[in-house]
Amino acid sequence: MKYSDFGLVNTHEMFADALRGRYAIPAFNFYNMETLNAILAAARKTHSPVILAVSESALKYMETDMLLGLITGACISPREQIALHLDHGHSLDACIHAIDNGFSSVMIDASSLPFDENVKLSRAVAKYAHKHNVSVEAELGILSGIEDENTQSENSSYTRPDDAVEFIRKTGVDSLAIAIGTSHGAYKRKSDDESLRFDILKQIAKQLPDFPLVLHGASTIPTKYVDIINQCGGKIRGARGIDIAQLKRAAKTNICKINIDSDLRLAFTAGVRESLKQNPNAFNPRDYLSSAMKNMTDVCIDEITHIMGSKNKI
Ligand code: G3H
Ligand code: 13P
Ligand code: ZN
Repeated sequence: MKYSDFGLVNTHEMFADALRGRYAIPAFNFYNMETLNAILAAARKTHSPVILAVSESALKYMETDMLLGLITGACISPREQIALHLDHGHSLDACIHAIDNGFSSVMIDASSLPFDENVKLSRAVAKYAHKHNVSVEAELGILSGIEDENTQSENSSYTRPDDAVEFIRKTGVDSLAIAIGTSHGAYKRKSDDESLRFDILKQIAKQLPDFPLVLHGASTIPTKYVDIINQCGGKIRGARGIDIAQLKRAAKTNICKINIDSDLRLAFTAGVRESLKQNPNAFNPRDYLSSAMKNMTDVCIDEITHIMGSKNKI
């Protein structure tokens, strides 16, 4: 199945526009009908290009045929500029599977491998993907994180600008995820003093002026939803995300794609918990899932409008 049959587009044009216009495209993760619909509702309300991100574990959870059924049912038009992206693909096989099944973009995350092996694997994925006009993202540097199976390390190692230039030249990938202080999950910073390394971003952008860069682990961890979760029986303590002003600043640079998952999970969970607390007798999942979807759409709209700058950019 080719991605254009689903009305999807690859990321080439959206990244070129984002680079020129100094904004970022949101990559929002989904894993079922509710989360897909919540993201698409936000994309359609804001007229923003959006990348629908599916991790390997989310793909395993949904299964490929069910995912494709959902995408078919979403009736996406190429005019909406929606990409379907494999998030953190860890092998050539995983990327080939995605490409052969209608994904318009794939990430090969070989960032935990030595540089030369990362180059070799990323180049192989780019070679296969480009035959099918599919975009490829790779990653260089290591993001830290404690609650995410895609993060292998407790300690981050920032992307080295010279390595980035060599990596792009040797692999032919279309975008590069860099490590400048973001991390996956809800516990990103111990204090508000911790800042993103804009100095490193600037050096990379200077050497690769027209090249799309990507920020993973960029959730802001909205206090509003953490508080609702905690007030409604949850226990999420010490969660702290990326500073909103810093993310906005990053979106105005060569960062063309910003990945958000944890914020959506928190909004969704807050919706379920609050709905069930307010209606203890209710047991129709459609009720609490509707609250969850609404919260998730609200977060997507808010971040598209106030962080990405991608509203009305179609
Ligand atoms: O960075 C990855 C996303 O948050 C997806 O995580 O593998 O738990 O679906 P996941
Ligand atoms: P967050 O955990 O910060 O939402 O990061 C998501 C991500 O990077 C998906 O690839
Ligand atoms: Zn990620």
